[in-house]
This record gives sequence, C-alpha cells and structure tokens, in this order.
Amino acid sequence: MYIKNAWYVAAWSADLATAAPLAITMLDEPLVLYRDDAGRAVALEDRCCHRLAPLSHGRVEGRDIRCLYHGLKFAPDGTCNDMPGHTAIPKAMRVRAYPVAERHSALWVWMGDPARADATQIPDFRGPDHPDWAMLPGRMDYAADYRLIQDNLLDLSHVPYVHRASFGRSDARINDAWTRATVHVAPLAQGVHVTRWLTDTPAQPFLGQPAGARVDVLNAFDYLVPGIFLLTTRHYAQGTAQRSPREAPTEAPLFATFSCQAVTPLTARTTCYFFAYGPWMRHPDAVAMKDGYATLALQAFNEDKTLIEAQQRIIDADPARPMTLFDVDRAPVQYNRLAASLMEQERR
Ligand code: FES
Ligand SMILES: [Fe+2]
Repeated sequence: MYIKNAWYVAAWSADLATAAPLAITMLDEPLVLYRDDAGRAVALEDRCCHRLAPLSHGRVEGRDIRCLYHGLKFAPDGTCNDMPGHTAIPKAMRVRAYPVAERHSALWVWMGDPARADATQIPDFRGPDHPDWAMLPGRMDYAADYRLIQDNLLDLSHVPYVHRASFGRSDARINDAWTRATVHVAPLAQGVHVTRWLTDTPAQPFLGQPAGARVDVLNAFDYLVPGIFLLTTRHYAQGTAQRSPREAPTEAPLFATFSCQAVTPLTARTTCYFFAYGPWMRHPDAVAMKDGYATLALQAFNEDKTLIEAQQRIIDADPARPMTLFDVDRAPVQYNRLAASLMEQERR
C-alpha cells in the first residue's frame, strides 16, 4: 500500500531544532529522528533491538543515541557501539538506519532499499529558505488514508466548491473561472503535470491594474512520487490564455504564488500533510503579503481536511462501496496507475 523506494518528508527542519529525539511513524514503521552534536539529522528505527523500547525515549550522545531502558548505544548507521558491562557486542545488536537528507528546509527520509537512495532525486520543493518565494511552512495531521489527500490535490475541480470562500474569495467570477477551465494532464516519468487557465478573472487590487480589470491566471502543478505537489499560479494580462493556451507564455507574469506540499502516510488511516505557500519575491509587497497568504492557505487546507476526514468516515462505514469517477478524475487515475505499477515492481 506504500511506495518504499522514495524520499518522504518526515519533518520541516525547524521541527527538529534541538537534540531532543523526535518520534514519527511513517509507512507504519516507527522512526526516531535526532540531530547529532554537529547538527546532522539521523533517522533510525524507533525500537531498541534489546527489549524493543523506543529510542525516542533515549538520549543523544555525540553522534549516537542511547536507549534509556538498559543503556545500549547506537551509531547513526544503526550499529550498537556500547553495551554496558560488555566489551564484545554481538552483530545482531543493531537497529535499522534510514538514509536521511536535509533539503529545502525539510528532512527527507528514504523508506526503501538504502542502496538506492540518491539525494539528488529529491524534488524541487521550495521551503522558507528559498530566495524567490516568501514561503511560510506548516503541517497538519489527518485522520485519513493518504490516498484521499492525494486524489484531492490531483483534482482541483473541488476548488470552487470546497474553497469557494477562501481561494475563491466568495467571488462568483473566480469560482466560475475554475468551473469553466479546460484541464490538461500530461504524464511525467515520476508523476503527472496538470495545467488549467482561469480566464477573465478579477485582477487582485495589489496587481496595479485599473479598477475592474480582468486577468488570466495559469495554474500549473506537478504531482510527483511519492506524494509531492508543486504548484505555481501565475497572473497575466487578459488575453494571454488565448495566445498561449497550453504552455506558460515567455513573458514574466504580473504576479505569482508558489505552493509545495508533501503527503506522508503515517499509518493506514493517518497522514501528515506538509505545506508551504507564498508570493513571488519579485512583487515589492511580497514579504508584507506572506502572512496573508499563509492564513488563506491554512483556511483552505482546513476546508480540505474537514471534508476528507468526513469522506473517510463514510468510506469506512461501507468499504466495499465503489466510487463512480468522471473526466475530472483523469489526473488522479493516471497518477494512481503509476503509483500502483511502482508498488508492483517493488513487490517483485
Ligand atoms: S530495551 Fe534498549 S537497552 Fe534494553
Ligand atoms: Fe483543496
């Protein structure tokens, strides 16, 4: 039910600011994350090999972590290097170590075969450290199957309904533009690329357009294995969509926002949703606008959460009941087919 050979976001870097070990269950596996005395992040199985006590109740000592039940100490590679009262340490005294990389202000953990972990494959997530975007990070815990959250992100036709008051700003012209939009879905090696033009929508006041002006907004995202959502929203002069119906035009937009999100399955019914959202730094008021965008995003993501958790309860009440899909589901169907084939390859 999970893709294992992939980098998953386990935490924002700031969530692991101190030496205190952090327990997180990912893909039904208990992990402990900690920083060693040089600030490097380590990810180990959160289960001491002796009597299976959680290492997250332990203590970081230099590069290592000591189990505070009977004192075994483990190195970042999972080997036991101190067994109180013993000089010879059996090889079986070890815990699983997970490759971990710190990129884009986030901690990424490789959940599969360590020999295949390649940190250069981590996608172009943009966190609060990015110079071009004024990003504010956040996270949310869901009581839902990660696949319901993925399907929601892959099919943004829900925006004028779930988010009519937040992203839609209770403005019928914005919500109508979402309903009218033609959606293009293209396969990627590791996911899908989805674009839609929202044409003839009211220009936001800060765009410096005359009162009542309309703009065309290009909404384009990549959804990548194992659940990474990278969305750019660019505002252009009205008429741009007609001139450039499939691709982003070459000229710079009037304004843009970026959002990166990561869906990390914890267990079959719990998921951690990491997100960052913010305006383009090239706008003179970007920094001043950043809190407003983060607040708007949080409002919208809570709208998704309320709906998806309710959907999960309905599904669980009658799990055999099938869904009836239609053309708005093209991107989720394509992505889920790719994910299923990757899981199948891993099983072989
Ligand atoms: S359970 Fe960890 S040392 Fe005994
Ligand atoms: Fe949503």
